[in-house]
Amino acid sequence: MRELMYEGKAKRVYKTETDGELILSYKDDATAFNGQKKEVFQGKGRFNNLITAHVFEALTKVGIRHHFIETLNDTEQKVYQTEIIPLEVVVRNQASYTLEKRLGIKEGTAFDPPLVEWFYKNDALNDPLINDQHAQLLMDVNSVELSFIKEAALKINAALIDFFKQINVKLIDFKIEFGRLLNGDIILSDEISPDTCRLVDLTTDEHLDKDVFRQGTGDILTVYQKILTRLEELS
Ligand code: C5P
Repeated sequence: MRELMYEGKAKRVYKTETDGELILSYKDDATAFNGQKKEVFQGKGRFNNLITAHVFEALTKVGIRHHFIETLNDTEQKVYQTEIIPLEVVVRNQASYTLEKRLGIKEGTAFDPPLVEWFYKNDALNDPLINDQHAQLLMDVNSVELSFIKEAALKINAALIDFFKQINVKLIDFKIEFGRLLNGDIILSDEISPDTCRLVDLTTDEHLDKDVFRQGTGDILTVYQKILTRLEELS
């Protein structure tokens, strides 16, 4: 029996026999609005597992350190163990409807340089927007490390823009998380999938991401399948 270490909204984390390595098991659950909207879509876990693997492999090619080691099966992947920093790093190339609602910046407004935001990963507090000082007060991270995380996020953004362009998709925004290896190094962790990115078809403007579930505008499995199929055709 594997030991369950942690269960989140979208994934379970198991210990392995090897120190410093974990198994991530992707669930079929979709949640939105901090868990207020919830549904199970059979096969969604497989899409996020396999799409995340494609994305991390592309990031390896451009020299970005991350936790992904290998795909184990349809819904599971092996990763390096990190202690997740409770900071949700959002990078925006374009304003979404959420930003328009929060700041009045018109949806579709392009950002150059891209906008980087920090949110405190805390369900009870509804993941509030925070600044550098809040981050240093709330978590084990210093100002040099925050600068490193911001630079890494922008580099990841540039790599992801190019990567998704190859499958005719525009990257509007995304959320990433970083974790600390046992030796203290900070690396990219968690997942990068249509659950965590806004991805729009360059030709049709169709959303190929979780917005179809959040807004009830389409079938999540159909659009995630489109992303996976295009990635498989690419490799
Ligand atoms: O909702 P918001 O516009 O702030 O989301 C920005 C980006 O971060 C979107 O791509 C969304 O999918 C992602 N996100 C996420 N997990 C959250 C909040 C946002 O993956 N808890």
